[in-house]
Amino acid sequence: MINNQKDSLFIKAAFSEPTERPPVWMMRQAGRFMKEYWEIKNKYSFLEMCKTPEIAADVTMLPVDLLGIDAAILFSDILVTGEAMGGDLSFNQGVGPRFANPVRTKADVENLATGVNDRLQYVADAIKVIQQRLQGSIPLIGFAGAPFTVMSYLVEGGSSKDFKLTKLMLHNEPELAHQLLSKIAAVTTDYLNLQIEAGVNALQIFDSWAMALSWDDYNEFSHRYIQQIIAGLNRKDIPVISFCKGSSVFAPLMAEAKPDVVSIDWNVDLLDMKRRLPAGIAVQGNLDPHILYADKKVIKERIYRLFDRMKGENGFIFNLGHGIMPDIPFDNVKYAIEVIKEYK
Ligand code: CP3
Repeated sequence: MINNQKDSLFIKAAFSEPTERPPVWMMRQAGRFMKEYWEIKNKYSFLEMCKTPEIAADVTMLPVDLLGIDAAILFSDILVTGEAMGGDLSFNQGVGPRFANPVRTKADVENLATGVNDRLQYVADAIKVIQQRLQGSIPLIGFAGAPFTVMSYLVEGGSSKDFKLTKLMLHNEPELAHQLLSKIAAVTTDYLNLQIEAGVNALQIFDSWAMALSWDDYNEFSHRYIQQIIAGLNRKDIPVISFCKGSSVFAPLMAEAKPDVVSIDWNVDLLDMKRRLPAGIAVQGNLDPHILYADKKVIKERIYRLFDRMKGENGFIFNLGHGIMPDIPFDNVKYAIEVIKEYK
């Protein structure tokens, strides 16, 4: 089924065209803050959920049905590219993602596979099922991790506080780091093109841990590869969103990679940042997700403050500066979305 969304709020805002109100979706909108998520999660492992198209579609549809957001995001994870390249990936409660065979030496890097779209076919299958479920109601966002962020998990073997081993590779063995990043970038380009072919309406690239890098290192080890990926997409009318934590610093450089939208963290005034970006680049953001823990009165005030500031601007997509935390009350998320849709 072809889900043509060019007249939807979300796609119009992503291309900086006028809309009657700003569209809303939230990173991690299909996740642990929902009891309906746990009803599924209690029966399957996280990777089983990602790899079974019907289940991935069920989870993708939870916020569509329960929250009324303006875009759905594919239920998957940024680390599936690392797994397809040969990473031994697992997710355990309380531990988070883990690669049992970390990538630390030249031999490790050389052993990683490229040309692995056949191992990611389950994602294409999930996209097709989701589009059947959406029936053209709202657009579907596909996604992938940016090379630096995926590299950090492969090198560290999991989550990290300081990215010590990853940064050591960048600094002591830059050629090896570039070899690894090039391989991830090639796999990511193929993977996003697979998602386009399967029918996504937009794409987001997640560089969650970019804020660990200095400006020069971000430029050399992250930005360059995101630019390469975006240039390699068979995008037609598919907008690309570039997300990182650290965007309050890096956004002007992120814009040079030619995304349609830059997703902004909560450290900066969104309108000031939009004005620093080239005309025609939309912004997505940028409520501090912690606001969703606060009283409803505060939630409304802070949403109004942001919307008053962005009033009259084309190219504004509401989102959080980062994902919803698992213990944020569902009611508060639902309330925030109602407030946003009713804002005048
Ligand atoms: O946004 C959505 O609702 C779509 C699905 C999605 C997930 N992960 C589901 C998920 C998306 C877009 C991601 C991206 C992702 N995965 C990122 C980038 C976004 C960000 O938050 O910065 C990162 C860094 C990852 C890696 C990853 N996967 C982490 C750090 C974790 C959580 C570990 C933990 O226990 O806190 C995951 C697991 C994960 N990905 C869950 C979900 C719903 C939780 C799995 C569970 O139920 O245990």
